[in-house]
Amino acid sequence: KRTIGIMGAMPEEIEGVVALLTNCTKLSMGKRTYFLGQINGIDTIVVFSRWGKVAAATTATTLIHEFKITELLFTGVAGAINADLKIGDIVLGKRLIQHDMDARPLMPQYEIPLLSQTYFESDTTDLGRAAKAINTVFENKSLHAVIGYKELMEFNITQPRLVIGDIASGDQFFSRTEQKQALNTQLPNVLCVEMEGAPVAQVCYEYEVPFIIMRTISDTADDKSHIDFPFFIKNISSKYAAEIIKNIYEQF
Ligand code: ADE
Repeated sequence: KRTIGIMGAMPEEIEGVVALLTNCTKLSMGKRTYFLGQINGIDTIVVFSRWGKVAAATTATTLIHEFKITELLFTGVAGAINADLKIGDIVLGKRLIQHDMDARPLMPQYEIPLLSQTYFESDTTDLGRAAKAINTVFENKSLHAVIGYKELMEFNITQPRLVIGDIASGDQFFSRTEQKQALNTQLPNVLCVEMEGAPVAQVCYEYEVPFIIMRTISDTADDKSHIDFPFFIKNISSKYAAEIIKNIYEQF
């Protein structure tokens, strides 16, 4: 039986998705609230983990063990590392890496010790379905109706783009241009940075659960992040994610 787990890191990232649930019930475990119900008739569990790798990994494990999810979708925001990305663009993670993992000189930098793996890859079928849903939302321009013109114009979001590629995670909020430049030099393929995707990807890999990590760019991971991030979270992210997830379910 198919059961989908939808995770975010903060309430604002999932509240729009919780609103899509029919027959919604709540269950508390490990200081987290799991929202259970259906979207388009498919059993779905929605939860926010709180920030960071430990919180994300334990939440993903609980979804797999306690709630028997058969696939996982992470939705949230990220800071742009790639210079071409703008606030409002969406990144789907093809590969996830933990930028703060470093057991040198015993292991190569970034490699997960004793797992001999550096990158975790998302499920290609799920990735294709999400890409189709995102492009549909962009083409229909339904975001304007859902989010509001004024809010989108705050960041000059006119024609958001979808990019598929590498996402890096670590227990750091990027708020200085030097931090961004250092990561860009070390891992030039990384599109954006966040704090949960790669640990969730690792847990899903270990338990053989297909996953995708979807991130909307909320800031440019530099000296402006501490201003842009809270505004994006408060006014845009929840509606953005809900609109796309609604469309993903329509592809099932
Ligand atoms: N998530 C959203 N913006 C971020 C940033 N600048 N650093 C880390 N995680 C983020």
